[in-house]
Amino acid sequence: MFSDIATQLHGESNALYRLRDQLQAQGRGVRDLVSGNVNESGYVFPQNLVEEILGRASRDCRVYRPDSFGQRRAREAVADFYRRVGCAGKDFDPANILITPGSSLAYWYCFKLLGNAGDEILCPRPSYPLFDYIAMLAGVKLATYRMSESDGWAIDLDYLEAVITTRTRAIVLISPHNPTGHVSGEEEVAALADIARRHDLPIISDEVFSEFLLGREPLPRPAGAGAPLVFTLNGFSKMLALPGLKFGWMAVSGDGEKVREAMRALELISDTFLPVNEVVQAAAPEFFQLGNAVRFEFAMRIREAWRLTERLLAESAAVACIKPQGGFYVALKLDGADGEGWGEEEAAQRLLRENGILVHPGYFYDMDPEHLVMCFVQDPKVLGAAIPEMVKTLSRDEPGTPRTAPPRKGL
Ligand SMILES: Cc1ncc(COP(=O)(O)O)c(C=O)c1O
Repeated sequence: MFSDIATQLHGESNALYRLRDQLQAQGRGVRDLVSGNVNESGYVFPQNLVEEILGRASRDCRVYRPDSFGQRRAREAVADFYRRVGCAGKDFDPANILITPGSSLAYWYCFKLLGNAGDEILCPRPSYPLFDYIAMLAGVKLATYRMSESDGWAIDLDYLEAVITTRTRAIVLISPHNPTGHVSGEEEVAALADIARRHDLPIISDEVFSEFLLGREPLPRPAGAGAPLVFTLNGFSKMLALPGLKFGWMAVSGDGEKVREAMRALELISDTFLPVNEVVQAAAPEFFQLGNAVRFEFAMRIREAWRLTERLLAESAAVACIKPQGGFYVALKLDGADGEGWGEEEAAQRLLRENGILVHPGYFYDMDPEHLVMCFVQDPKVLGAAIPEMVKTLSRDEPGTPRTAPPRKGL
């Protein structure tokens, strides 16, 4: 009765999440140190502002007048955001911006726009597991390029170029990257754009963590760097801690004719569903405007949360990490790489069982063995209590404990 895709979609939970459910059923509290839902960690857009902005916008939208690209004022507000951060207007022209219900669906649009069944989209490895599912639903395949931990999680550009095949249809760049925190510098972006140009490939630039840089600013962007076609994806989900609003966008830039062709097809894809809530679109200019101060405050709190995390982690030799340059996550390298450690699955399960702390083993993100991933965007009190406990458990030396082989990737 069901399609091949449907048979791959039954969401069986893995051992770690079964253990979490078991502990919760016994009444044990679990501190989730990995969820990217920052609202749960106290990062919430002021409620009074949400009510005021949406109230005003709803009065503006009593008559339904949809636009396949999204309301003009919403697209202008997005373009204005880029102008204010110093991007060239030609790369963020309101005429070439499409409003989407979040960046996840923008990915799906891109995959549908660029790939036929069986074509490949090149994504970073490791990465957030969202893209496997989007690719599956869009009927394309994911191929991966390597980010090299020994090189500060830089993109292995030679490797990337070597895995391009005749079926490759796009290169995905995630910067700041989830979960390594890598931010591509000017040179890396230029080199990537050069590869894209030589192989006539579009770049899909996922910039959802653009406002949360922990090092250098501004963020180097592929738009305007010379690739034939660039799709810049972002939205309010992380930027304003408003994931429930489902407001995102893609800005299309590059060679004029390619941009026009992309926009023509995107118009039809988007028109088929007209998916973004009209009130939210009408509210977008005010969310940008009144959200400015909120955005800066979140960014500051997140920088402080990272500084605290870094200080607490530094107290242990059991974990090491490459300092994230942006985003919400850090990949922790366990000290057991010599074969004496517990293994990442066992480490994650022990932290959950003994400390009630949930972090992910690195294989969830297709990382090499012996990593844990945590989100440091938490209440400082939670970090202050949980990280020392975590470090203490991970520092306990129990050599000879058999390491568990990583099961298959997936949350
Ligand atoms: C790298 C990355 N891209 C995209 C998304 C999805 O963002 P949105 O909420 O805009 O769909 C996430 C969500 O965590 C993410 O981590």
